[in-house]
Amino acid sequence: MNKIRIFGATMVTIAAAIVATSCKDKRSTGWQYAPNMYEHIAYEYDQKNPNFKDGKTAQLPPSGTVPLGFTRFDYPNTKDGYLAASGEVKNPITNNQSNYKEGKLLYEHFCSPCHGLNGQGDGTVVQHGYPAPPSYSKGQSSRGGAMKDLTDGKIYHTITYGVNAMGSYASQLSPEERWKVIMYVHHLQTL
Ligand code: HEC
Repeated sequence: MNKIRIFGATMVTIAAAIVATSCKDKRSTGWQYAPNMYEHIAYEYDQKNPNFKDGKTAQLPPSGTVPLGFTRFDYPNTKDGYLAASGEVKNPITNNQSNYKEGKLLYEHFCSPCHGLNGQGDGTVVQHGYPAPPSYSKGQSSRGGAMKDLTDGKIYHTITYGVNAMGSYASQLSPEERWKVIMYVHHLQTL
């Protein structure tokens, strides 16, 4: 009996000691499992770094370099960029049935809610009050000229940057997917 009491009293004292000492330093993380996860050896990108001339960890890539798998589109989001792209940028993708079919599917998912399945600017979102885009075959572009005459470059520029009430689709559609969609938009321009 006595032994059990002594054991019990010891346990209570230990528990009390743990409770009393554990919260002393509020900023301490206490015992850490795998401390390298908290204090790692690698530099954080926003940390000072004596290994570089400007003392920063986040370095700009050397000028003129392109990330692997990145497709360049050096036309700014301006009217001039739009017109320059119109004259110089051509669809690099083969015009075949499978690309066309994929383009149709992508168009139906990403564009038809506003532009409508037949490109007449009457999608479901528009029927609920969103500003209507002009018809691809019969409308006029807000940047001049008929919608049916929109070139590869103009449409690619529009998908990449958006225009007015239309947002950019650069993060949803890869360059290759944009070109597939454009093949289908060209079809809608003839309706
Ligand atoms: C949220 C609705 C919405 C979606 C989704 C949308 N658009 Fe638009 N789009 C518009 C509106 C509104 C305009 C007219 C903008 C203006 O000229 O003021 C427009 C204009 C355009 C134009 C004409 C640009 C010009 O130069 O006049 C093209 C081409 C176009 N969209 C293509 C697309 C394609 C391709 C997709 C799908 C990847 C798409 N849009 C998705 C709303 C949308």
